[in-house]
Amino acid sequence: MSDVIPLNDALLQTRGLSKHFGGLQVTRQLSFSLKAGARVGLIGPNGAGKTTLVNLVTGVLEPSAGSVWLNGEDVTRLSQPERVRRGLVRTFQITQLAPRIAVRRQVEMAIHQRRGSVSSWFRPADAFAEVRDEAEGILQALRLDGLADSLPVELAYGEQRLIEIALALALQPRVLLLDEPMAGVPAAERTIILDALSTLPPDLAILMIEHDMGLVFSFASRIIVLSEGSLLADGTPEEIRNHPAVRSVYLGTAA
Ligand SMILES: Nc1ncnc2c1ncn2[C@@H]1O[C@H](COP(=O)(O)OP(=O)(O)O)[C@@H](O)[C@H]1O
Ligand SMILES: [Mg+2]
Repeated sequence: MSDVIPLNDALLQTRGLSKHFGGLQVTRQLSFSLKAGARVGLIGPNGAGKTTLVNLVTGVLEPSAGSVWLNGEDVTRLSQPERVRRGLVRTFQITQLAPRIAVRRQVEMAIHQRRGSVSSWFRPADAFAEVRDEAEGILQALRLDGLADSLPVELAYGEQRLIEIALALALQPRVLLLDEPMAGVPAAERTIILDALSTLPPDLAILMIEHDMGLVFSFASRIIVLSEGSLLADGTPEEIRNHPAVRSVYLGTAA
């Protein structure tokens, strides 16, 4: 495992992160860092602990040992919403969209959530206009503006997954963790998501879990490989492609 990067260089850092469920050790002493602008793929066989890692980083789960640092602050004991407010945002492996609320409305709701304006009685009209404009901007950036008045239930699955990314962006993340954003998306629609990801702000750090190696290699400039909860490799796509242990894990799984 590579040395821990000094905190002033890392936006997100885990130190010795471990998790067990009863006797089952699922995350083993994981230390890694993401810098601003990182484009990192997180891969590993089913059950390797990828989703668990995202759950530990975002506060869905409490670690058995180790810590999570965001921009130099220890956030290990903070709740999920407190981490979101600091810019640590994720999407889920299983879709979390409300199926029958218009796309635009859902993005606006996420912006209101971020601004803390959801429950205020008095909202000046220009605050509404700001939120509407911001939602429009997010949808345009992802080329979803044509779907703003649609209900998710009417849309293709690839479009739905893209809307989830729009909702995440509405929270103004500094670190975005995407748990299999293309899972279940037909191959023909995947490039739409990949194209949209390439338009995201360059200083946003993105960690994407993805099984499709072609997609991972075209998205990521760095790849982290988990195997049975341990960090098996961390390197450039080229290094990972030629990594003997990674190859044997994947050949082993395919067999
Ligand atoms: N809440 C839980 N309770 C018990 N075991 C769990 C729980 N969540 C995950 N696991 C186990 O942890 C391991 C890793 O799961 P997961 O992180 O979902 O893997 P991945 O996302 O890499 O496929 C699996 O063996 C899974 O069954
Ligand atoms: Mg998973």
